[in-house]
Parts: sequence; C-alpha cells; structure tokens
Amino acid sequence: MLAYPDPAGYRPLREHIATYLGLSRGVTCLPEQVFVTGGYRATLELVLRSLARPNDRVWFEDPGYLFARGFLAETGVQLVPVPVDGEGIDVERGTLLDAEARFAVVTPSHQSPLGHTLSLARRMALLDSAEKASRWIIEDDYDSEFRYLGRPLPALKSLDRRDRVIYCGTFSKVMFPGLRLAYVVVPERAVERVGRVAHSMNAGSPTLLQAAVADFIEQGHFARHLKRMRALYGERRVLVVHALEQAFGERLIVDLPPGGIQFAVQFAEGPDGPVDDVAVAARAREAGLAVLPLSIWYANGRARRTLRGLVMGFANIADAREAGRLARTLRACLEYGTTPC
Ligand SMILES: Cc1ncc(COP(=O)(O)O)c(C=O)c1O
Repeated sequence: MLAYPDPAGYRPLREHIATYLGLSRGVTCLPEQVFVTGGYRATLELVLRSLARPNDRVWFEDPGYLFARGFLAETGVQLVPVPVDGEGIDVERGTLLDAEARFAVVTPSHQSPLGHTLSLARRMALLDSAEKASRWIIEDDYDSEFRYLGRPLPALKSLDRRDRVIYCGTFSKVMFPGLRLAYVVVPERAVERVGRVAHSMNAGSPTLLQAAVADFIEQGHFARHLKRMRALYGERRVLVVHALEQAFGERLIVDLPPGGIQFAVQFAEGPDGPVDDVAVAARAREAGLAVLPLSIWYANGRARRTLRGLVMGFANIADAREAGRLARTLRACLEYGTTPC
C-alpha cells in the first residue's frame, strides 16, 4: 500500500463501485470499466485526454455546473452552451446550434444548478442524437442518491444501448469532498485507451484511502450512511425552505428541492428591475454565508433570459433556529441589492 497506486484504481474498490452501480443506479458494468479518479474534474481530464481532439465542440448545459465550465474552457475544447428548461437540456436546440458536437456534458438526475430531472423523452432524444453524431455523452451523476420524493431515478447510462454514455460519479456528496475520490465508467470500446492514458498520467489516488472506502462499502456502513443522510437532509431542506419563505416573502421564488443537497432560488424582479445577484452574494459571503450568484452559472450572465438568484447548500443547517437566523441574515443582504440593470 506504500507503493505507487494502480492508476486505474484499487481493484476491490472498482469491484464494489461496479456492484453498487448495478444495484443502485441501474448501471451494468465490469470492474475493468471503472476508473477511480481524484474528483470530477480529474475524471474530465482523463476522459478528454483519452477521447478528445483539440477544438472538439462540447454541448454544455446553460446554465450549467460553474466549475466544470471553467475547467473545460481551459482544456482547449469549444463549449457550445445549450439552454435548459423544465425538462433538462434542450436537445433540439443543441442540434440546431451544433449537430456535430463530439461531446455533451449533462446532469440528468438533478440539473446543476436548476434542479430539474431530464425527462424520459429528452433522455431518448439525447441518446438518439449521440448515436447519429457519434457523440460521447458525459453523464455527471453527482448527487442522485439524495432524492426525497420516491426512489432515486435510474441513471441515463441505464438506457444506453449503444454505449455512448460515459458515466461519472463522485464520493464528494455521498461522503465528503475532502476525500477527493470519484470514478468513471468507461464504455467497453474505450477501456484500453483510457487505461493507457491513466497509466501515462500516473495520477492514482492513495491506496490506503481507497482501501478504507472499499471496507466502508463492504461492511455495510456506506448503505447505512446514505439511508441516514437521506432522512436528515430531507428534513433540513424543509427547514431551510420554510425559513427562506418566512424571511423573504414574495421577494424570493423558492421551490422545495426534490433532490440533492443544494438548490437554486430565484429573486422576484423588484420595482427597480432585476436584482443584482452578484452584489447580494458578495454581501452574503461577507456575512459568512457560502452562497453563489445564480447568474454566473450561465455562459452569458447578463443575457435577458438569465435568472437572478442564489445557489446554496442546505445539508449543514442543524435546526429551525439556525435556519431562521441565517435566512434573516441573507434577507438583510438583499436590501441594497437592486440595480437598474
Ligand atoms: C454538478 C457537480 N458535478 C460534480 C461535482 C463533484 O465534483 P468533485 O468530485 O470534484 O467534488 C459537484 C460537486 O459539487 C457538482 O456540483
């Protein structure tokens, strides 16, 4: 365990992940298809180094995961922002914008940041268009275990008959982000190529850490932890939504999030026009609240259709008192937040 780790991942952990994905996410795969990485962006790096060519075009949800957008922009691929609506990514618009894009990066279970679930019709359209264009779909399934209404939905990958979906998971939400452990399930025809690139990068995660997580899963703690956290976070989300409604009244549009451990809330337009969410979030951070402005999750944050609001976590708020106190602090940050944009 003190030697260089296997760059593809610690074999028992790869086996446990494959079994877990089959049982929990409807993803059938062999342990050989599972590569362990140091986080979602490390996964993207491995995938792109293995399968992308310079200047490849990539559909990216708009709004979409802020940190992946920044990372991808730096890797030399060309991002094609594709609008998102209540059914998830708009595949038809994507096709009109760029029918030949080589990749589509999506968050089907819980769209980041708006929280919608990709509808079945859109899932089929996305898979169909990927097949026609020989496009790879990168499925970012970062927080699907936390679903509060009904059971977690199967992954998009579970419908992937043509093996076009590259499935990405992470331990950041189900355990904690400091672990720096994530994984990717690679289509069979790409396993050899990804394996070669993983070996040339030699960026494997510490074996001791992977072995501890493998034991945690094997001994049943992981399943119990998920069950416990699902119940706890489900209660906390109700507390937080209630506290925000009380503090903001009609100034904030808040929907009870069906899943995840963070959500986006939207500011109602004030008499002076749209709320400057960047200014509100900056004031909130000064007051000790870790919120992000919603508008910066768009490719063009100043476009007319951009929603103004905040993206915030709710999993660490202990009780109704704390939720109320924080919501009132946040409300005070709104007072000077309207600008005639
Ligand atoms: C949309 C999305 N994808 C993936 C991740 C996981 O990233 P990482 O594995 O680097 O912690 C996160 C974490 O916040 C996320 O919000």
